[in-house]
Amino acid sequence: MSATDLELRAIESKADEESYAACISAAFGTHMPQDVFDFEIDAIGRDHTLAAFEAGEVVGTSAWFELELSLPGGGVTTGAGVTSVTTLPTHRRRGVLTALMKRQLGDFTESGLTCSLLTASEGGIYRRFGYGVGTYKCRYTLDKRLARLRPDAPGVAPGDEGAEGRVRIVTTDEAAKVFPEVWGRARLLRPGEVSFPDPFWTTNFRSPQPSWANIDDDKRFFAVYEERGVVLGCVDYQVVGRQNQRVVDLSLLISTTPSAYLALWRYLIGIDLTAAVETRQRPVDEPLRQLLADPRQLEMSGFQDGLWVRPLDLVRLLEARSYAPGLPGRLALGVRDTLFPQLEGVYAIEVDAVGAASVTRAGSGVSADLDLDVADVGSVLLGGVSFAALRQAGLVVENRTGATWRADALFTADVAPYLTIGF
Ligand SMILES: CC(C)(COP(=O)(O)OP(=O)(O)OC[C@H]1O[C@@H](n2cnc3c(N)ncnc32)[C@H](O)[C@@H]1OP(=O)(O)O)[C@@H](O)C(=O)NCCC(=O)NCCS
Repeated sequence: MSATDLELRAIESKADEESYAACISAAFGTHMPQDVFDFEIDAIGRDHTLAAFEAGEVVGTSAWFELELSLPGGGVTTGAGVTSVTTLPTHRRRGVLTALMKRQLGDFTESGLTCSLLTASEGGIYRRFGYGVGTYKCRYTLDKRLARLRPDAPGVAPGDEGAEGRVRIVTTDEAAKVFPEVWGRARLLRPGEVSFPDPFWTTNFRSPQPSWANIDDDKRFFAVYEERGVVLGCVDYQVVGRQNQRVVDLSLLISTTPSAYLALWRYLIGIDLTAAVETRQRPVDEPLRQLLADPRQLEMSGFQDGLWVRPLDLVRLLEARSYAPGLPGRLALGVRDTLFPQLEGVYAIEVDAVGAASVTRAGSGVSADLDLDVADVGSVLLGGVSFAALRQAGLVVENRTGATWRADALFTADVAPYLTIGF
């Protein structure tokens, strides 16, 4: 087989669907329950799949959905969220993925999407297709026997005299209503977060949870923090382990204000009969560290790439975000793109005093302040990777003295970019 023998198209029939599901199951090494597959395909839609067929059999899969990506400064852009990427194990390393990626990215560009986004099963796959790491994630362990909040930590504990808000444990049904609503506000506050289609939330609250979610419904709890009846944050956790080894296993903490953030952490730390709080994925700048009397008690582990960003329409993408206010001027980026050479060029970003930008693709003869690969534009876009680090790695070339420093000053975000929920 060569990549040219492949037919690339969306799945159409029930037979296509079965072959598509079989490819995904074999590639991930786990049989996907039929009801989970049916649910996902209904949610995504057959027309949003792309499969590679060889003699009528699906040997490669991919799917996508439209989503909004939050950007520094509170803006959003519409991109493609790519998911279900697999090649049948009997057909690996023969160019199936490459064929799917090229077709898909070309289609996204034609549809006017500014970027393609994904979370990767392995870190070595996607840079060759122009994706750069835009966000990072990690896990934390807080040993409650040693950890204390600083005595001058702001606010008062919910429920104490003078407290404005309260934490309330809610049922799964209430959580299923409230969480998406809080999330809709919270996602705009941090670059890297994306809008989730409703089916994500339905899956999140369905019972029983699929085995890979590692959630035991009998031990799962939801709580919200509210002030004057308005929910400002929420947590999803389970208490796991035995006797004095029990820990709070935190799946999700969403907050829209510092008061909600602090109140929910106070709540989690205060849960009796537990020795530690262990988080699943969290942002790398977890503010809890600043609130601890001994910050070392918050142990970080599992540092890893989160969201990968593949710029497609650089003009609209770079214009959609804000830049640091108070630094008006021009920065010209020379962008290389081996997969889509038609996107290469010098992109001049003209930033005004409040940080809004207009971007033009400069004609030939215009020199760039910095040269870099399109994947690295994906990395710096959200402010989570610095031009300086890329330059030290030899991936950014500085053509004008001081341009790296200026670029970092402009591109920095007021909060570390992060993607809460993978797709
Ligand atoms: C990852 C996967 C889709 C790759 O598919 P594939 O059809 O074998 O990929 P291709 O043949 O098009 O490979 C393209 C290039 O990527 C490289 N590559 C492929 N998979 C890679 C991996 N896991 N790690 C590093 N490099 C990889 C290939 O060596 C090849 O490099 P080259 O262009 O220098 O020769 C496939 O291995 C798979 O299904 N894995 C299990 C499921 C999975 O992890 N999916 C990704 C979900 S995010």
